[in-house]
Amino acid sequence: MRTAATRYWPSRIQPGPEPVTAASEGPAGGGLRIGVLGGGQLGRMLGLAGLPLGFEFLFLDPAADACAGSTGRLLQAAFDDEAGARALAEQVDVATFDFENVPTSSARAVQAVCPLYPGPRALAAGQDRLAEKDLVAGLGARLAPYRGVDSRTTLLEALDRVGYPAVLKTRRFGYDGKGQAILRDPEDLERAWQRLGDSPLVLEAFVAFDAECSLCGVRGGEGATRFWPLTRNVHDDGILALSLPGVFDGGLQAEAERIMTRLMDELDYVGVLTVEFFLARGELLVNEFAPRVHNSAHWTIDGADCSQFENHLRAIAGLPLGTTELTRPSLMFNWIGGLPALSEALAVAGLHWHDYGKQARAGRKVGHATLTASSPDELRQRAERLAAIAGGRFPALLETLFD
Ligand SMILES: Nc1ncnc2c1ncn2[C@@H]1O[C@H](COP(=O)(O)OP(=O)(O)O)[C@@H](O)[C@H]1O
Ligand SMILES: [Mg+2]
Repeated sequence: MRTAATRYWPSRIQPGPEPVTAASEGPAGGGLRIGVLGGGQLGRMLGLAGLPLGFEFLFLDPAADACAGSTGRLLQAAFDDEAGARALAEQVDVATFDFENVPTSSARAVQAVCPLYPGPRALAAGQDRLAEKDLVAGLGARLAPYRGVDSRTTLLEALDRVGYPAVLKTRRFGYDGKGQAILRDPEDLERAWQRLGDSPLVLEAFVAFDAECSLCGVRGGEGATRFWPLTRNVHDDGILALSLPGVFDGGLQAEAERIMTRLMDELDYVGVLTVEFFLARGELLVNEFAPRVHNSAHWTIDGADCSQFENHLRAIAGLPLGTTELTRPSLMFNWIGGLPALSEALAVAGLHWHDYGKQARAGRKVGHATLTASSPDELRQRAERLAAIAGGRFPALLETLFD
């Protein structure tokens, strides 16, 4: 029998309506159909941000159970399937991507049918670490010394220029620290070459940074820009673990915004862009950028007026951009491989829970939580409680964050 304490939910999300195929006319706004190449958690959070605006979503993803599917319809196709990309484009008003390794051929297939933001050039720029670094260096921003590597000989030459310790990275398809090897001394060279030498590579100096941070910003079609505050990030084994906005001074913020503005203007960018930096001896060195919404800005859902997801949608839809101020002290915990116990975590005040609905698997991002508070001290107390509940390396990582 049903009691007051019993709740019933449908065990499965019901399939959405049939695809709408007619091209829409008229201004952007409610009812806009958004196509997303990629149906992972970033697509899902775009969907969650866009549903209240009255938008409808169609995601292209190779996985039948892609987690964005619960916020829209799913078109199951490989990312390099140009017919699939075209089919997506034919059913939407504007398209974007949640995954920066979408082949540019698929991006162009979309663009031939409907607008795609950011455009294929911005997409391509973030896919190759060497081209990305050359572009950033050409704009006058500082980076750690780097060299392209395509043979043992060029690796040795690069090491002569860059020196030890260094980091060897694949130029393409690296994420969450994958496709990287640290070279501390010549003994590490052979093993790193065996592991990565089949791919085009880039060698860069290992940066003994004081902190890592990232800037997330948005640019509208008319060139208007807005930036969220710089966020301090702590990674664990190459994967983002914690993000804390609002702890850097105005000088660094202005410098980071100058760099991002140059990059956005160069790429004629529309949408959300994120630049990751190393902060070393008071200076910002660009690490990499991502032409999409980014894990280090997930706190904007709960700690800013307008989240990175909503502002990305506003930008690609040609709507006014939302304000990007931090509205209250906030801190994001990333859940990798599994979620902490919900019943324990929800007992922490100021907790905002985000379960991506993905199968738990080692190394996989399955959710995040953002803590908000009315003061930095209160935020820290809440964070210490949540870190104790999450266990593992979180208590130690939190100390690094607040050091
Ligand atoms: N040159 C470097 N010096 C020091 N740490 C690095 C360096 N390159 C990468 N790392 C560490 O590894 C993390 C992941 O590397 P990154 O280049 O951002 O690749 P991705 O995020 O695409 O996997 C960085 O956030 C940083 O913690
Ligand atoms: Mg990175």
